[in-house]
Amino acid sequence: PATTHYDFNVSVAQRAPDCFEKGVLVVNGEFNKLIEVVQGNVLEVVVYNNLPVDWPLVSEGISIHWHGFSMNGAPWYDGVGYLAQCPIKAGANFTYRFQVNEEPGTYFWHGHAGMEKVDSFFGPLIVHSPPGAPAPAQYDEERILLLSDNYHAESAPLTFALNRPFDSNKVTNTSGAWDWVGVPQSTLLNGHGFYGDCGLLAGSNTAIPPKCNVSLQWVPPGRSSVQPFASPKNPGCSRYNMTVEAGKRYRIRMINAGSLLFYTVCFDKHNVTIIAADAYPTNPLPVTCVDINLGQRYDVLLHANQPPRNYWISALAQNATRTGSPGGYGVLRYADAPSALPSEPIMQPESIPAWTFGVVHAITTLDALLNPQTIPLGTVLPKNESSLRPPNRTHVLNVNLTQPLLPSGQLRWALNNVATYGTPTCLPTLGQLQSDPSFMSRMARETRSDNSTNVDMMQSGSADRVALYLDDGSPAPSYPVAGQRFMPLRTGDVVDVGIQNMAANANGGDYRGGGVGANRTAQEQHPFHMHGHHFWVLGYGLGSFNASTNSSSLNYINPAFRDSFTIFKNGWTVIRFKADNPGVWILHCHTDWHLFMGQKMYFSTSPEAAAPPPKDLPQCSSSCMYNFGAFTPN
Ligand code: C2O
Repeated sequence: PATTHYDFNVSVAQRAPDCFEKGVLVVNGEFNKLIEVVQGNVLEVVVYNNLPVDWPLVSEGISIHWHGFSMNGAPWYDGVGYLAQCPIKAGANFTYRFQVNEEPGTYFWHGHAGMEKVDSFFGPLIVHSPPGAPAPAQYDEERILLLSDNYHAESAPLTFALNRPFDSNKVTNTSGAWDWVGVPQSTLLNGHGFYGDCGLLAGSNTAIPPKCNVSLQWVPPGRSSVQPFASPKNPGCSRYNMTVEAGKRYRIRMINAGSLLFYTVCFDKHNVTIIAADAYPTNPLPVTCVDINLGQRYDVLLHANQPPRNYWISALAQNATRTGSPGGYGVLRYADAPSALPSEPIMQPESIPAWTFGVVHAITTLDALLNPQTIPLGTVLPKNESSLRPPNRTHVLNVNLTQPLLPSGQLRWALNNVATYGTPTCLPTLGQLQSDPSFMSRMARETRSDNSTNVDMMQSGSADRVALYLDDGSPAPSYPVAGQRFMPLRTGDVVDVGIQNMAANANGGDYRGGGVGANRTAQEQHPFHMHGHHFWVLGYGLGSFNASTNSSSLNYINPAFRDSFTIFKNGWTVIRFKADNPGVWILHCHTDWHLFMGQKMYFSTSPEAAAPPPKDLPQCSSSCMYNFGAFTPN
């Protein structure tokens, strides 16, 4: 196969994507670098980490994850720091090289060693059909719409504050205590936005920003003015314009690469038709707006069939707890609009209703989908359900999602009482499991026999090993702990994972929720993502999943085939995947802050069956605290 080659020279730059200057990571000097590859080609990306050794933002190094790629047969290149590889340190380089067998469609790449994604280390990743392959729909041209939320602080101070001990008396803006990162300062469309643009003017009690009024731009402390439009003072900031020609049809590839916000995207006066979700084709679904959660992608068709002028493109935050989150606005600009029109948009951003589970309002989308029978989805179906259920190889994993306060004082997110964070091993975990097949069961046994000290051994730093909890039928710890949660699988296994987002045990649901103990309730939705697989979203609902009543509502006929899914506030979601990809794979919340706070777990599928590691796989530092012994890639 042909090789598609990219050099990624990664360095720090000062950029002002929303008119506020801050440090970001750029690739060959480019912000949100685009990668395009034809299905079947080998993708070769040589990543040179040219960051200063002491740059505080990304001290441990960087890596790249190909979000949505199943990486079948290429688990070493999946990019999760310490799981598939150790980070690429400053001054070092690493070559990602694998054949792209993924479904043609819309993906994105992003850093995954630590929190470098928050420092803008991401970009679109498009897989084109091979020449001659039938197009998924009729359209004239393509556009990419990369959405992201933008913090004015870099990742390091934000995560540092998240890591400090929680003190309920000092939660807000008090140095020395845990501090939530808050909402981002702006929303970027293809890397362009304005801080203070509508959203921050909304005040604190409405999720719907008022109409844009550029004369009311918020002027931050210490600045004399905000330049609302591109100017010599703000060369980095300008409003994103999507130029179209009247009469043409466009395939718009939408990606939510943000860290916190669940967006609803509308094109004023234009309906769109969804034709793919997370790269896989869907039956065409006309909508007025598109709800797109973190990590998700939708390909939509837009017909430029309105009177030629300028229209707003709006991306507004859709989560009741994200009150005051800034929206982002771009312009759909007809190239042949009469020149008499003002050069700036004349339409106001569309106001949209707050998104509420169970209420199908005008903006019915795949996420809001309540009745799969009336809005058929995936074209990739588990056609023969029973063939997917080999005897003794089917697992049901029920996960309770909670937000505990650990004995160490850390506020974390936990799956079945395990907050997975820290460095699992000093080797990439996949290498550890390949070279030491009994590692997991040994560690899990030791963890169980050492319940007195495993409570928070990762955090205390006193431990010489990882506390490891296996989903192999062993009971979950009865109190919240820090450690690593793994589900060991064999190739061919079929797994139904049901995640319950609400107060599910006496250790508390969402710490900030109302009520006490078992009465606590969840406060927010979570956008989950799984590596190494696409999966079927069998169903979701509100309240507690009840096997006897809810199972019959699961959709085995035409469920969506995706790599990301939403778990609703006080709700549940059930997915099914087939473990057909030897390696170690992470399932996690794609809210970057929640990932950092432990909202993740791992699946290890027949690690011994994975190919041996590439020779140049980055090694972890030899001073690593949790060192289990030598590991030599062949
Ligand atoms: Cu895009 Cu592990 O994530």
